[in-house]
Amino acid sequence: MDNEVRTVEWTGDGLRLLDQTVLPGRVEHVVVRDVAALVDAIRRLVVRGAPALGVAGAFGVAVAMRQADREGWGRAALDEAISRVREARPTAVNLAAGVDRVRPLVTAGVAAVVAEAQAVLDEDVRGNQAIGAAGAAWILDRLGDRTLRVLTHCNAGALATAGWGTALGVVRALHARGRVEMVYVDETRPLLQGSRLTAWELARAGIPCAVQADGAAPSTILRGLADVAVIGADRIAANGDTANKIGSLGVALACAAAGVPLVVAAPWSTVDLALPDGRGVPIEERPAAEILTWNGVPTVPDGVAAHNPAFDVTPAHLVTALVTETGPLEVAAGETPSAARAAARAAAGAAHRLRE
Ligand code: MRU
Repeated sequence: MDNEVRTVEWTGDGLRLLDQTVLPGRVEHVVVRDVAALVDAIRRLVVRGAPALGVAGAFGVAVAMRQADREGWGRAALDEAISRVREARPTAVNLAAGVDRVRPLVTAGVAAVVAEAQAVLDEDVRGNQAIGAAGAAWILDRLGDRTLRVLTHCNAGALATAGWGTALGVVRALHARGRVEMVYVDETRPLLQGSRLTAWELARAGIPCAVQADGAAPSTILRGLADVAVIGADRIAANGDTANKIGSLGVALACAAAGVPLVVAAPWSTVDLALPDGRGVPIEERPAAEILTWNGVPTVPDGVAAHNPAFDVTPAHLVTALVTETGPLEVAAGETPSAARAAARAAAGAAHRLRE
């Protein structure tokens, strides 16, 4: 795995985060020791990406507990602070799931919470490596054992996780087998997670890539320049509907029109079985300034409003395969309803096994 990228680390008295807002220009870390700083870091995308948010949320409970000790909070104030971490961003289910997983251990003390949060982190790295291997195997099986041109959207790499990455984990595994000719990286508006983060990771790994405007992606796909698209997910409903970074739906529609497989690579911690379909996914609306300004300079006439949803939902029937750490779930063409039920059943089984 990529040992150099540590997005989230417990220092013993706080949470050390790789500051993703200043990449690729600067590689800097911040250490957060209180809840307000953590919530701010999550909202500003210092730490981002569904699995990384899950890990940050789990350690965030320890941050809150230590602050409670220092400042003499009662249990109600601690619970309220933990809930603020849980709700800092709404779309990625991993954040709430990470908090919920360690919350029952609050009465057992900080050490128990930190140990469980570290388990969330370690499981994520292991899971990503399994996702990468399974995704690469599925793609080469489906498309033939040859070099491939891959398109990806946003950043679902080591930076978005505890290490290795989901969609980029698949790309890394393909590259390790000498099967990557080119990765088309959507720049990913409005915060350029593709240009700033995915291209940074790919360049460091020596994987050939080209950044393109988000608006170029459907044309790249329909012109036959991409053999497969691989994306991550922030929340997958029980029927397979997949919420991911805004612009993913355009990629999915183009893939369906062109007959190009769309692979969603995500851990089971991103599957939300409580949600029957994608209509219930809470979509984060980001600050207007991200759309109305560029580097602090206004780019829109005065008085014009912004519409800035951070995520969209791709219907399950546009997803060719969902690859998790337990392997691929293939959605066969024309079989959407039954395939969705199969995905939900498999998800329930895997989640059950993971809980045991
Ligand atoms: O707003 P972000 O940068 O947190 O959005 C991230 C994404 O949409 C990723 O594709 C998703 O979280 C999967 S990360 C493995």
